[in-house]
Amino acid sequence: MKKLTIGSLKAGQAGYSTSTVARAPEAPVRAPERRETVQKTAVPQLKIEQHDKQFHVERVPRQTVLETALQQNIPLDFKCKKGTCGRCRVKVEDGMSLISTPNDAERKRLGTESQQGFRLACQSVFS
Ligand code: FES
Repeated sequence: MKKLTIGSLKAGQAGYSTSTVARAPEAPVRAPERRETVQKTAVPQLKIEQHDKQFHVERVPRQTVLETALQQNIPLDFKCKKGTCGRCRVKVEDGMSLISTPNDAERKRLGTESQQGFRLACQSVFS
């Protein structure tokens, strides 16, 4: 067998052969990148119904349900925002624990309905 020298490995020289050319080392195989799994914490939502339409209002602490809904482009019906007209009356379907207990204005306006899941959106405040 022919002995290989540096010269014999140059292209065009006698003895050059592609089979004798050393290959460049392959790029190291990388382990797949780890992706941080950031779990999004879902914003708690209040599920309410008004005039046979259901809405989901995302909780914003210390804001009333009405002002929060309006900010989220939820078209709740309302008028006085003082707890007297009753136009903002909603039925809470889910998430009652996210809002304050009924205040005096709500209890006065809603009567026993306040114990059946009805609330005034203008008086109910997210905790
Ligand atoms: S808007 Fe009148 S009671 Fe809420």
